[in-house]
Amino acid sequence: MSLISVDKDKCKKDGICIDECPVKIIHFPDKSSTPETFKGAEDFCINCGHCTCVCPVGALSHINFTPDTCPPIQKELLPTAEQAAHFLRFRRSIRTFKDKNIDKNKLEKVIDIARFAPSGHNFQPVEWTIVYEKTKVKKLTGMVIDWMHSILKALPKKAAEMHLDFIIAAWETGSDTVCRNVPHLIIAHGDKNNPTTHDSCVIAMTYLELTASSMDLGCCWAGYFNVAAQLWEPLKKELNLPLDHLAYGTMMIGIPKYKYHRLPTRKKSTISWI
Ligand SMILES: Cc1cc2nc3c(=O)[nH]c(=O)nc-3n(C[C@H](O)[C@H](O)[C@H](O)COP(=O)(O)O)c2cc1C
Repeated sequence: MSLISVDKDKCKKDGICIDECPVKIIHFPDKSSTPETFKGAEDFCINCGHCTCVCPVGALSHINFTPDTCPPIQKELLPTAEQAAHFLRFRRSIRTFKDKNIDKNKLEKVIDIARFAPSGHNFQPVEWTIVYEKTKVKKLTGMVIDWMHSILKALPKKAAEMHLDFIIAAWETGSDTVCRNVPHLIIAHGDKNNPTTHDSCVIAMTYLELTASSMDLGCCWAGYFNVAAQLWEPLKKELNLPLDHLAYGTMMIGIPKYKYHRLPTRKKSTISWI
């Protein structure tokens, strides 16, 4: 079966699929023909589905994408630029959570949108680990504190720069400034040998945070946790990620205790025009 098939009655020969193909494997074999792929195209196709989805008349089917399996864009559901800007400014890092679990279905829904984030070469290398039980989050956070103790001992200057002594002292008085007493953690991880995995995980996490915000859930990046998840053997063992995987982002996720009423300001952008 060929990579693409074109409905000759529907195709307008406008060449849009040819222009849009990111790896340039589609062409007109001659003036009167409909588009076809070059010989050996399968080796270059990145399975992005753009050829099927950009065709205005639904004439092109890719072996993995047909006009029937790719839903039409519903323009009425797209935010205006003003709505999108307001929503993006509205997202906050949430650090105080209700002592209540999020339904597992809801967590899966958030991840189901995050998987549409861009990824290098469309590799889609991101995998997810959810730490669902709060007791387990606490146990893992305790391991992050163990890692902090080890850094404090081995690299006291570095530890002071990262304020690890304060975090440990807070933990000892019952205050969790690492994972903020959150009920759940979501970890994005993937093959450390793939050069696109890091960026793809970070972008997918950003999609996840924005999606959660649209669903009245609260997120906060767990930066300390993630560094420990990359470096501290006991924590790595407990997370049980595949051997060739690295954690590239950890997100706290829960139901926010409070609502925000204003949008904070930020530094002005620094832009160089060259
Ligand atoms: C990579 C990264 C790591 C972060 N790690 C932590 C963290 O460990 N603990 C925390 O409370 N906030 C963490 N944050 C949240 C930032 O402090 C927060 O994004 C920043 O203060 C701006 O606030 P806003 O997200 O509400 O706009 C992290 C954010 C990023 C992007």
